[in-house]
Amino acid sequence: MGNFIKLRGMRDILPEEIKIWKKIENTFIEISELFGFEEIRIPILESKALFEKGIGTDTDIVMKEMYEFKDKKGREVALRPEGTASVVRSYIENKIYEKKKISRFYYLGPMFRYDRPQKGRYRQFYQFGVESFGGRSPYFDGEIILILNIVLEKLGIEKFVFLINSLGCKKCKNEYVKNIKNYFKEKFDKFCEDCQIRIERNPLRVFDCKNNMCKYVIKEAPTIFDFLCDDCKKHFDILTSFLKKFNVNFEIDPKLVRGLDYYTKTVFEVFSGDLNIAIAGGGRYDNLVKEMGGPDIPAVGFAAGIDRMISLLNVEEIEKDEVIYCIFLGEKARIKGFEMMKELVDNKIKIECDYEDRSIGEHLRIADKNGKKWCLILGENEIEKGVVILKNMVSGYQEEINEKEIIKVIKEKIK
Ligand code: HAM
Repeated sequence: MGNFIKLRGMRDILPEEIKIWKKIENTFIEISELFGFEEIRIPILESKALFEKGIGTDTDIVMKEMYEFKDKKGREVALRPEGTASVVRSYIENKIYEKKKISRFYYLGPMFRYDRPQKGRYRQFYQFGVESFGGRSPYFDGEIILILNIVLEKLGIEKFVFLINSLGCKKCKNEYVKNIKNYFKEKFDKFCEDCQIRIERNPLRVFDCKNNMCKYVIKEAPTIFDFLCDDCKKHFDILTSFLKKFNVNFEIDPKLVRGLDYYTKTVFEVFSGDLNIAIAGGGRYDNLVKEMGGPDIPAVGFAAGIDRMISLLNVEEIEKDEVIYCIFLGEKARIKGFEMMKELVDNKIKIECDYEDRSIGEHLRIADKNGKKWCLILGENEIEKGVVILKNMVSGYQEEINEKEIIKVIKEKIK
């Protein structure tokens, strides 16, 4: 170990892990783009006030988990703990609503939360997410849930379930909050100190508490369903019928409130297998654009935790590297071989080469150890015969290929 080690809750993602990260990212990008979402890149650093306004000052994220500091000019800034507040800021600041009635964005990147590090919980973690602006119809909610469902299925994540709830519109949410506040007040002494403050300031946040006693009282609390107005009920029913039609595995969880303040109507989280923390979460936030100074425009979105998804994937199953590992024996072969490699690269075939002088045995051992599937071998004999050897490292089978046919043969093998 050198003189420096990484900070607590941070981690390196090394080249051997990148393949699986890229698989997740590329699958998400492919599906989002097929559904008409466009990439947006937002800053990692924003004003602290943006997240206070966007996520809510009483949330754990803002109260306990923000990486916040003063910059050289004394401005209060924060590393983004999530993407939604920034996308909304950008949407308003760039007046995107003037150009399009419906805008669909996707984003990927690191987020920062000063949480207690443990399995599946990092201080720098990675999300991919979508935000869809301008649509009030429940089909917009259905669309993003379907995108996430397709991505998770395509990645082979097993036994995942969407927990779904509605928090109602401003009117029914307010009614519910009033009611739940009274209910919690009756049981005030049973709550932890934090929750006693939450009951006064923001009663819905009591639902985030991990304390067993609080959890017990919450279990018995009234649910939002008794307070939903007709419009919110209809929204929820259309959405659940849609999910059934598309075979999305979901359960209704009337106690799901999510840990961020901006939600209205639909909220959801995704759980899978043994992991008892969510791999994704999202919902509708019809008032946030207006609350942040923009026009009255509804929106819905989700974000998924890539780090958590990685821990659920079978890395062994991701195919071996299709790179062509080139072995050139001697100076003449290196020169001739380089021309060959250039041709491979021109044809979008990935190559890798170790130019050091080693025996063929040593080269093959290195290729095998590094998980390479194909070796292209060129020595003086092969140059004289106008051929090259292609060796499959998995089966051990090798064949001589005419040097003029290399591209054609390799393309057939690795397609
Ligand atoms: P969130 O539920 O706070 O929602 O985060 C989404 C996902 O990010 C979580 O389900 C989890 O997989 C991952 N995640 C959160 N914290 C950590 C952590 N400390 N370590 C590893 N992974 C973590 C949001 O961020 C909202 N912006 C989602 C959204 C978008 N709602 C509407 N649009």
